[in-house]
Amino acid sequence: TKVYVPLDFAAQAMGAERVVAAIEKEAALRGVNVQIVRNGSRGLLWLEPLVEVETTEGRVGYGNVKPSDVPALFDAGFLFGGAHSSSIGKVEEHPYWKRQKRITFKRCGVIDALSLDEYIAHGGFRGLARAFAIGPEKTIEEIATSGLRGRGGAGFPVGIKWKTVHDCKADRKYVVVNADEGDSGTFADRMIMEGDPFSLIEGMIICGHAIGADKGYVYLRVEYPQTAKVLGKAVELARAAGWLGPKVNGSNDFAFDVEVRIAAGAYVCGEETSLLESLEGKRGIVRAKPPFPAFEGLFGKPTVVNNVLSIATAPMILEDGGAAYASYGMDRSRGTIPLQIAGNVKFGGLFEAPFGLKLSEIVNDIGGGTLSGRPVKAVQVGGPLGAYVPVSLFDTPFDYEAYTKVDSLIGHGGLVVFDDTVDMSWMARFGMEFCAVESCGKCTPCRIGSTRGVETIDKIRAGENVASNIDLLKDLCNTMKFGSLCALGGFAPYPVESALRHFPEDFQKPALEAAAE
Ligand code: NAI
Ligand code: SF4
Repeated sequence: TKVYVPLDFAAQAMGAERVVAAIEKEAALRGVNVQIVRNGSRGLLWLEPLVEVETTEGRVGYGNVKPSDVPALFDAGFLFGGAHSSSIGKVEEHPYWKRQKRITFKRCGVIDALSLDEYIAHGGFRGLARAFAIGPEKTIEEIATSGLRGRGGAGFPVGIKWKTVHDCKADRKYVVVNADEGDSGTFADRMIMEGDPFSLIEGMIICGHAIGADKGYVYLRVEYPQTAKVLGKAVELARAAGWLGPKVNGSNDFAFDVEVRIAAGAYVCGEETSLLESLEGKRGIVRAKPPFPAFEGLFGKPTVVNNVLSIATAPMILEDGGAAYASYGMDRSRGTIPLQIAGNVKFGGLFEAPFGLKLSEIVNDIGGGTLSGRPVKAVQVGGPLGAYVPVSLFDTPFDYEAYTKVDSLIGHGGLVVFDDTVDMSWMARFGMEFCAVESCGKCTPCRIGSTRGVETIDKIRAGENVASNIDLLKDLCNTMKFGSLCALGGFAPYPVESALRHFPEDFQKPALEAAAE
């Protein structure tokens, strides 16, 4: 019998390795033949470790399995899908799974993460075969037709970026995958690299072939040791099987190889130009743009720098055609977005859906509301530099432009939910402090402004000249927004301004408390 236990870091954190050992031990004791398959996570993270058993009826799941549950699971006949208090029934019938439109994550959690045979059996390398058949220009056209936009957060059209690099004349070009997933509440890059690493490798080959690059780098977050293991192994397997190397399988004579580089552990190294500096072996300091990396990137050569999700979606787009991908979504936000639901929420996890969902649906309906059971106060969307969205804006559809209109951003699709006990002046302080800690120091508004911002918020919180200090803080935010060299200093005002705008009462507390006394 096949028993699936995720090798995903989140599942491991919840004891997946001990569960594997317990199943192996119990099976040996009982003389039963069990084949343990290490899949990725399906993203129903509140159920990890989610153990699945293959039955004639489909895969049956058991959630939050502890090693001590294992003997009872065997007694209950879980190898045949038997009933147990941890059973969630057929996994693919679970509403959290069934309601999704999985494109980028279609294989993640389903297949053995490190089996090339399973990858191929589930459509792997079909997109690459098509790319080889239609050639670079038509490949880029398909990506452009799909409407895919940079999933790192900025939403720049991927087709235009690839075409720009394709059109550059140079002796060398590079593909660089930004896997320095630093945003709070985000884990989609990690999940796909652990659960379906070959899709990223295939996407990199497609991109390299399209733009004329023979080398790709993955700049991988140092805090992801399990990803380094899984992705490193996947690269080795792909190379040994001829999918990477001097003549990629299925090509005439296209050479392409991938190198995984461990990042430096700085948030700012997720900014593409400081990432490139770091890859070149230098300190991660932001470069002025232009020139954009598409023209002068790694070692001064034209470079596509794309987020993991952007590249890992390319194989599906090539396989099914750009128009199929573009048929999902709304307005200029085409396709699907892998939402990462985190924070104080009941059903935290990854939920891939076409653009357009409202926060009320995502947080209350899909996420089940807060874990604490208290009312939701705000959701920070788009990482530590994203705005706090109040309940009054919960009808805003998940779409790049709709969020911009309400002074927010969707970023990398991360959502952190807060209940009504949160103090928004404290969260505003956190935003500024985060910027002060992570600033690369190159420009004054960010380097000095963030520290002055923390001090000013401290004064407001202490009830010192509240009105004039709020004005000063707003002025400072304006300077940082328009005077910073990169998005770290430029976006740090989003959490601060949104907290001020939507929750002004949280900045008046000391004064109110004083009045009450
Ligand atoms: P940006 O708007 O400057 O650029 C977006 C991309 O388009 C870049 O790759 C840039 O090189 C490219 N580009 C822009 N104009 C171009 C042109 N004319 N020709 C060729 N390429 C061009 O935004 P930036 O600073 O790269 O990213 C900011 C975003 O990063 C924010 O929206 C934020 O949400 C996100 N972010 C994501 C994090 C994560 O962990 N995923 C962490 C921090 C921020
Ligand atoms: Fe560096 Fe901050 Fe300026 Fe960006 S905004 S270049 S992180 S100092």
